[in-house]
Amino acid sequence: MVQLSTFVGALALAFSVAQAAPDLSSRASLPDPAGEKNVGNGSGAQFIGGQCLGKADCASGCCATLPQGGQTIGVCSGVGAQTQAGKQGCGFESGGGGGGGGSGSGSGGSGGGTTTGNNQNKGGQKNAQAGGNGGGNGGGTVKASPLKQDPAGAGNVGNGQGKQFITGGCTSDADCASKCCALVNTGQDKFGICSGPAVSTAQGKQGSTSETAPQNLLDLYDTTRAKGRCSHELATGFYSTDGGSNNFAYCGDRLSTSGIIYLQGRHGTLANLDVDCDGTGNGSNGTASPSNDGRCRVDLSPDTQNTTTFRDTLAGYGHGLTDLNPYVHPYVVFGNARGTHNRHGWKAFDPTAHGMRPLSVMAVVCPNREMVYGIWGDTNGDDGDKPMVGEASLALVTACGGKNVTGGNGIDEDTTLFVGFVGEDAVPGANGANWTAQDFDTFENSIQPLGNQLVERVRPDEEDASSSVRSGWSQVMFSIAVVLFSRIL
Ligand SMILES: *[C@@H]1O[C@H](CO)[C@@H](O)[C@H](O)[C@H]1NC(C)=O
Ligand SMILES: *[C@@H]1O[C@H](CO)[C@@H](O)[C@H](O)[C@H]1NC(C)=O
Ligand SMILES: *[C@@H]1O[C@H](CO)[C@@H](O)[C@H](O)[C@H]1NC(C)=O
Ligand SMILES: *[C@@H]1O[C@H](CO)[C@@H](O)[C@H](O)[C@H]1NC(C)=O
Ligand SMILES: *[C@@H]1O[C@H](CO)[C@@H](O)[C@H](O)[C@H]1NC(C)=O
Ligand SMILES: *[C@@H]1O[C@H](CO)[C@@H](O)[C@H](O)[C@H]1NC(C)=O
Repeated sequence: MVQLSTFVGALALAFSVAQAAPDLSSRASLPDPAGEKNVGNGSGAQFIGGQCLGKADCASGCCATLPQGGQTIGVCSGVGAQTQAGKQGCGFESGGGGGGGGSGSGSGGSGGGTTTGNNQNKGGQKNAQAGGNGGGNGGGTVKASPLKQDPAGAGNVGNGQGKQFITGGCTSDADCASKCCALVNTGQDKFGICSGPAVSTAQGKQGSTSETAPQNLLDLYDTTRAKGRCSHELATGFYSTDGGSNNFAYCGDRLSTSGIIYLQGRHGTLANLDVDCDGTGNGSNGTASPSNDGRCRVDLSPDTQNTTTFRDTLAGYGHGLTDLNPYVHPYVVFGNARGTHNRHGWKAFDPTAHGMRPLSVMAVVCPNREMVYGIWGDTNGDDGDKPMVGEASLALVTACGGKNVTGGNGIDEDTTLFVGFVGEDAVPGANGANWTAQDFDTFENSIQPLGNQLVERVRPDEEDASSSVRSGWSQVMFSIAVVLFSRIL
């Protein structure tokens, strides 16, 4: 099935390359005419090789930029194939919603005399995406960044030696020890700053999408959406939105092979990304924290509890912290409390029953395909009408969606992937994270090495499918053995 659509896609590309400059307004020159009905539909129905106006069109989640005859069009692409056949990577957005798209694309593309061609490209695409989205919402511009290059790294700029540290300047990915040179746009100036993959878009850095989430995690994102639903639901019956369906599940398809649990809906959906402001909103000891910019204020976030689930574990770390801070700690709300109100059909899920540990590192792939590492810090309560999923702290949602998100205003589309890692090795513990950090970037950088290590264990789907059958069998054999054994005793 996969092979067939790839083949059709390759055929379609070969076909379109042979054509003269396509006219975007005319459907006669589509890359694969069979996909015409899916162009601009936004329902993820377009197959690989069909034209797209943005990633929302594509079943693969990747609308790749394809220059043709002096203009660029979007073509749905398999991730991994987004730079083949002349395509320039995922992230194409037509900006059809408004002028903001066009200007974002233009300014990014011209990105600074100091950047290499390669890096300009990526920056340009990223800006095109940001501009396109802004345009759709009625004319957004690129957010000005307050960042500066750390002058101490001046000697590492532009030599491609991979010696530059995070926050030092760069002209290409090759300069950075982190292998990620993010384009920074201050409004007056554009330049590169070496960035950790997970934080390459924080504070207005416009990191390149292709480098932010590792490929295996993007593969997980894409195959999960393409598969449409989870085969091995650990628990289901959860809601992503109040008025939506209740078929969101904690998925165990890759539990036995990759040691992960993730959230998945049906028909290609994942979960949305609501904002949680629980915990200590005013800093470590209830004092004002520099990161507190008021977006968790009671009027913006009426449904706020003063505590998070694992605050006692945090307090036990001995740093004088009584709770997590939603402005600083990128915590994820995962797991659902048992109903205490005797409601019929209430669903619960306890991730610890499957080996997840409190305050362990999690990975979140945002709707824009960037990744943020988080901490499993809270669980969904039973105070609402329905058992909900898809929530994280203000700090985490801000890293995905920018500073416009507030306590009551997160990201609504069901396209965020939440991944929990089972086992003790996912727990940074008292000294494996900078719990007393006063800002998101500092905390995020502190858990990044562990996050990178954990993400490496996410294995491809094919491998997973075959070995989960094996492991399924071994579990059956084990259960039989237990039953037999207990009878003998
Ligand atoms: C997208 O396609 C579906 C099914 O083919 C159709 O019902 C829907 O109206 C289309 N939406 C748009 C915006 O074209
Ligand atoms: C947080 O700080 C603000 C201003 O200092 C104060 O008005 C508010 O009551 C504090 N909130 C909490 C929960 O301590
Ligand atoms: C949280 O709020 C509840 C009730 O409003 C209060 O009883 C409790 O002491 C508070 N806990 C903390 C840690 O502030
Ligand atoms: C926070 O609490 C710790 C331990 O109780 C204390 O040492 C520290 O001074 C407090 N910090 C502030 C800013 O009050
Ligand atoms: C942020 O939100 C405000 C108010 O809802 C809106 O006017 C503005 O356009 C938004 N900005 C972006 C970049 O989405
Ligand atoms: C944690 O981050 C703060 C800055 O927010 C820094 O001053 C402190 O030294 C860091 N602690 C550790 C253990 O790295």
